[in-house]
Amino acid sequence: MKDTRVILPEKEMPRAWYNVLPDLPRPLDPPLHPATQEPLCPDDLAPLFPMELIGQEMSQEPEIPIPDDVLDVYSLWRPTPLVRAWRLERALGTPARIYYKNEGVSPPGSHKPNTSVPQAYYNKKEGATRLATETGAGQWGSALSFACNHFGLDCTVYMVKVSYEQKPYRRTMMQVWGADVFPSPSGQTDVGAKILEGDPDCPGSLGIAISEAVWDAATHDDTKYSLGSVLNHVLLHQTVIGLETRKQLEMLGESADVVIGCVGGGSNFCGLALPFVREKAEGSPVRLIAAEPTACPTLTKGLFAYDFGDSAKMTPLLKMYTLGHTFVPPTIHAGGLRYHGDSPILSQLVAEGVVEPVAFTQNAAFDAALIFAKTEGIIPAPETSHAIRGVIDEAVRCKEEGKEKTIVFGFSGHGHFDMAAYECYIAGDLPDYEMSETTIERALRDAGVTEG
Ligand SMILES: Cc1ncc(COP(=O)(O)O)c(C=O)c1O
Repeated sequence: MKDTRVILPEKEMPRAWYNVLPDLPRPLDPPLHPATQEPLCPDDLAPLFPMELIGQEMSQEPEIPIPDDVLDVYSLWRPTPLVRAWRLERALGTPARIYYKNEGVSPPGSHKPNTSVPQAYYNKKEGATRLATETGAGQWGSALSFACNHFGLDCTVYMVKVSYEQKPYRRTMMQVWGADVFPSPSGQTDVGAKILEGDPDCPGSLGIAISEAVWDAATHDDTKYSLGSVLNHVLLHQTVIGLETRKQLEMLGESADVVIGCVGGGSNFCGLALPFVREKAEGSPVRLIAAEPTACPTLTKGLFAYDFGDSAKMTPLLKMYTLGHTFVPPTIHAGGLRYHGDSPILSQLVAEGVVEPVAFTQNAAFDAALIFAKTEGIIPAPETSHAIRGVIDEAVRCKEEGKEKTIVFGFSGHGHFDMAAYECYIAGDLPDYEMSETTIERALRDAGVTEG
């Protein structure tokens, strides 16, 4: 019998996160203050984040030690298995070797607790009693609820309204871990109430939900804000994925030719791919491919420019690929990929040609999800399915070209709470969305985003 899963012993779990900032081809453009548009200083972020996370956001240290209390919680599901997708390979008849790093084995079911746990830990250590956050698909909200429950913090989640309605059991999961969950836009915040006044049927977006959570944290002294993607410290925490993967590939004597992950704000993809960036800079031909939806084509069609991270312009301006902070993406089922912007680190790597972006429709993603579920058995989250589409296309190309590449992808989460989406797909009721250049130009113009 051939080995399928590469299991790293617990004592091999990384003891430090990898910080890509000192390894970037050029320094990131600084975040700007939303009011003054001057570069931010650490104190500007203090109302929202604990100082330890602010330090990590700007750190030039190549490694940041993982606290013991965080390792202790990680050990509930880490190290995660690297799995050889033999059955998928056979079904495709490809000479490619396909491996997936299964982050769906965490208690909330995705990669998200890799950062929710340290974020809750540092907040608790510095005296916060409550965290406020947004969630798209519900994966991040459940990951933060799980972490807050562990460290004894209250948790308030603003869940994008369309996902709140599509995924009632994600909401229940958060409530099981003790969180308060509101559909966003909600009447709970000034920002949400104002949006509802103008558009009572607004389906919500991550940009709007972020505004609500930031408003909540900024108006309550005991409350901090927690973000599940985009920011440097979030990507930093997620690097445990790629660090473990590299060790697991080493155990097999393998090296990756292609690394693929799906992208919402960039933390899943970067968690896997960043530890390969140095290898690439040192001459490895490894290709890093970031998969996003055509309904929200931030990296493939957006502008690399300064923009706000939220709809109400409360967050700092970040230099990133963006579709404009007022863009409300169509209501696709991959709710975690419906974000107008992207992480500045990932954006810069795309701009420099280190990472290749690619976009897929939701039907193409679900076609791939079904092939995966029928061969490998696990039902993927709609977000993850975008990566699987990229993997299958790449593996089929290997077959056509007779190339034996090693493809590694991030299995970012299972889709056990996404049955409504699968039901629509099976019934043939899933619409596809392609954003025309005109739509994107209008979205950028409406948001006042310009080149530079
Ligand atoms: C299962 C899953 N995969 C990927 C993503 C995208 O995450 P990121 O923002 O880290 O790119 C999400 C976001 O919610 C998700 O739930």
